[in-house]
Amino acid sequence: MSKYRVLSSVPLEFRGENPATELLEEAGFAVEVRPPIDRSWSDVVETTDKLADIAAFIAGGEFINAETLAKADDLKIVARNGVGFDRVDLEACTARGILVTNTPGAMSDAVADHALALLLATVRSIVPGDRSVKEGGYDVPIGQDLAAMTLGLVGCGRIGAEVVRRARGFKMRVLVHDPWVEAETIAAMDATPATLDELLAQADAISLHTPLTDDNVRMVNADFLGRMQAGSYLINTARGGLVDEEALIAALKSGHLTGAGLDCQETEPPEGTSLELVRLENVVAMPHSASKTYAARGAMSVAAAQNVIQALQGKGPDNVVNKEVLEKLNLER
Ligand code: 8YV
Repeated sequence: MSKYRVLSSVPLEFRGENPATELLEEAGFAVEVRPPIDRSWSDVVETTDKLADIAAFIAGGEFINAETLAKADDLKIVARNGVGFDRVDLEACTARGILVTNTPGAMSDAVADHALALLLATVRSIVPGDRSVKEGGYDVPIGQDLAAMTLGLVGCGRIGAEVVRRARGFKMRVLVHDPWVEAETIAAMDATPATLDELLAQADAISLHTPLTDDNVRMVNADFLGRMQAGSYLINTARGGLVDEEALIAALKSGHLTGAGLDCQETEPPEGTSLELVRLENVVAMPHSASKTYAARGAMSVAAAQNVIQALQGKGPDNVVNKEVLEKLNLER
């Protein structure tokens, strides 16, 4: 029986342990790990070549579309090593009968920790403070108590719910704007449901926790930012594409916003406007690393491996994003 080939573009080994690879090899599959050559997920040729002759792809942040699927004649599943699938053309995959799966919940704690870390880093000027001590200035701008602040969440799924839990632990007042979550559910988290207008008018810091879709690209635009309170902060551990970066640069340069904590940028690694944005003194920027912890990346890789195993064994994986393919392949779920 031919051994299905599984390719991963993200590391699967953590502290000498390799649970995902072990699961895949125990299921009889050949596993190869090949990270992107220059840390960029955007190289079309590299992605296209990677997808040739493999049955399953454990994907990082690659753009996967009709162009990069050109050689993917044997591909049965794109198993996202993460929860977001905005870089995967679902229509192109569905047309080819290729399952797309993700790993919701595996990184909720890690990303929520990171959102609070970015909030504290911006509100308490951790980066300039550290630099000042190292360079002899020995001073730092005055900050605020989180307990005296209102945090506004745009979106409140698994990650947002963990951010609420942490923010309440810091005694923050928390407002949540998420049309898909019942007001009762938000209240049960000890947060307050709010319209977007209420959120922008009342929050001292806004944290984004919504997937990037065709409907919300650059939703954080000049109007959104202008309606935020003077002196407030923006935290983004979701997707860089949610933010109009030219508008954010203007809001930060004018002082309308005091600071921003950005784990993601529109171009990654940052180029052009994204690079100008991350270089601002009142921005704390991170390399899309919110889920980069042992526990999260370990859980993500195992969940992705389990999705691959189910698919290659002819079963419907647990977290299929393009469910219409299940019917097309006559897979139950
Ligand atoms: C991953 C993410 O780091 O889960 C997501 O959607 O963006 C991150 O957790 C990224 O997808 C690369 O694997």
